Amino acid sequence: MRNIRERHVSALETLVSRMREQAGWCRRLGSPLYAHLMEQIAVDLLAGGPSRDVLAGHEDDPLTSALALRLLGAVHRMALDGRAPAVAAHFPSAGGADRGDVWPAVRDLFAGHRDVLCTLLERPVQTNEVGRCAALLGGFVTVAAETGLPLALVEIGASAGLNLRWDRFHYEAAGATWGDSTSPVRMACDFTGPYPRRDVAVRVVARDGCDTNPLDPASDDGALTLQSYVWPDQLERLTLLRAAIEVARTVPARVDATDAGAWIGRHLAARPSGVATVVYHSIVWQYLTRDTRAAVKDAILRAGTAATREAPLAWLRLEPVGREGPFEVRLTSWPGGAERRLAESSPHGREVRWYAS
Ligand SMILES: C[S@@+](CC[C@H](N)C(=O)[O-])C[C@H]1O[C@@H](n2cnc3c(N)ncnc32)[C@H](O)[C@@H]1O
Repeated sequence: MRNIRERHVSALETLVSRMREQAGWCRRLGSPLYAHLMEQIAVDLLAGGPSRDVLAGHEDDPLTSALALRLLGAVHRMALDGRAPAVAAHFPSAGGADRGDVWPAVRDLFAGHRDVLCTLLERPVQTNEVGRCAALLGGFVTVAAETGLPLALVEIGASAGLNLRWDRFHYEAAGATWGDSTSPVRMACDFTGPYPRRDVAVRVVARDGCDTNPLDPASDDGALTLQSYVWPDQLERLTLLRAAIEVARTVPARVDATDAGAWIGRHLAARPSGVATVVYHSIVWQYLTRDTRAAVKDAILRAGTAATREAPLAWLRLEPVGREGPFEVRLTSWPGGAERRLAESSPHGREVRWYAS
């Protein structure tokens, strides 16, 4: 049996490796600020600094709970809401400048606000990536073009439901545009391959979603939570998010607080005629239990079997193929159940390689 000292060392090593692993991801995905802070936290943990007290008790948190991102999400929240002005001075998202070393300000925050941080650390990472609509766009346009019908949107794992307003955003890629030209959400897309059609008028008649932990984007708390989990030196993502929150305040959509498995069956049971129903999800599948996945698939296949030309069904998804990608957009449509690979995308959307149909 291991002695207490050995257990303590191994718990510390776990925390340090969680920080270093996430630092690598942040560096690769374009957040040098977070990469630097996570490296500094790892060093501080080993030196017995204030990070140890803040992270104590989290040694056994599951890897998937993204401890490092929860911790810096808590710091970011305090920078955005005015409780950490010295940190905010370094965070571009809070009006600060990404220069000089931010670590001393974060270390002071850890030392002076341990209790607040420990409470905020309990929150799950909750994002809603508006850029993913650029990758889903081709699927929605394809369904509208092929059916000639208005769309009823059914999103599972919808988070704050921002992407239920995808048609109210504007998309631009090398000389081509889609969506609502008056939208405050202006998405610069990097598209290669044959573009989605631009001659299709898409009309959305219903916007319904579910999430086990939905956020209300129209509330101050919901908007702050969503922003706090975007990396503070990624202003483009933040600008899109803030504009989408503005759209959400005027375009209603419903997101029920429930597990997708139970919800989807009820939701697809009675589908109206004259509408094409599009069930969709982005970066959700890996979070569902085996039972929920089976229930979702079963409900979709049952509804697909019952689909007609007057009440067609489509299943659109943007999900990683393996643990680390690539990220693929797939579309299955009924009647018929034909499945197509539409595109490959970056994890946050907007960089999309379209396949020939
Ligand atoms: C990585 S987020 C993606 C959110 C959104 N689809 C997007 O692309 O921005 C995964 C979402 O799935 C939700 N989720 C996890 N398990 C779920 C379940 N069993 N049923 C419904 N939603 C779930 C989470 O709460 C979270 O909002």
